Amino acid sequence: MGRQSLHALLLTSAVICILPLCSTASSNPRELLRSGIDIHNKASLRRGVRLYMNYCATCHSAKFMRFERLSEDLEMAPEVVMTDLVRFGASKLSDTIPAAIDSETAEKSFGVAPPDLTLVAKYRGIDWVYSYLMGFYKDSSAPTGYNNHLLENVAMPWVMASLQEASSEKEFSELMRDLTNFMAYMSEPVRPFRESFGKYVLGFLMILLVSVRLLKNEYWRDMNEQ
Ligand code: HEC
Repeated sequence: MGRQSLHALLLTSAVICILPLCSTASSNPRELLRSGIDIHNKASLRRGVRLYMNYCATCHSAKFMRFERLSEDLEMAPEVVMTDLVRFGASKLSDTIPAAIDSETAEKSFGVAPPDLTLVAKYRGIDWVYSYLMGFYKDSSAPTGYNNHLLENVAMPWVMASLQEASSEKEFSELMRDLTNFMAYMSEPVRPFRESFGKYVLGFLMILLVSVRLLKNEYWRDMNEQ
């Protein structure tokens, strides 16, 4: 291979390697905010589910989450869950979280059907959800009067606008953190258990490591003596 064609080959490979980096950079114009949630904070999760039922379940379902499971995991008495959370056509603890509005009517009103939110924190990411909720801004050219930094021309009306106006910036970001925390929990309810169980598994592996090491020393001592 001639020197020139080798140069051309190297240059092409460099361009091929760099191009994907350029496209990722331009498709992510805004850095995500760090949510700083704590999935083990049950008080925060309880505040989050109340916000969710009051503001979000009007349009969004969470079809894979049962009220019963909420009651157990969030340590809320079944009677409290029944009176405070079960609504919009749901009537018992074993029901899943419904949306108040049906999907076709919502699609006619907003142009896009509001997606089910059970797994949104999994497929979009926890920081994405938090940044989305913190990312609404006033835009007089948008049909709803609001737009979003992460979803340009968003079809979702900014249902938290009056709450946001009535709260300080710090208070509002705390509220959105609780709401995000709840959505993170909902996308993987076993996570708190998995995390605490993981600590026991690591502890067990450490003990195993020490005993295997001692056993190895014992075997090698015999070998060395021979
Ligand atoms: C009045 C109806 C309505 C309400 C109430 C509502 N949303 Fe939405 N939401 C929508 C619509 C419509 C979309 C689709 C937006 C789009 O694709 O442009 C959406 C999209 C979203 C998305 C993006 C999902 C994705 O993957 O693209 C998230 C996250 C979300 N909503 C969270 C919430 C939360 C949290 C609340 C409660 C604070 C809420 N929504 C309340 C109508 C609503």
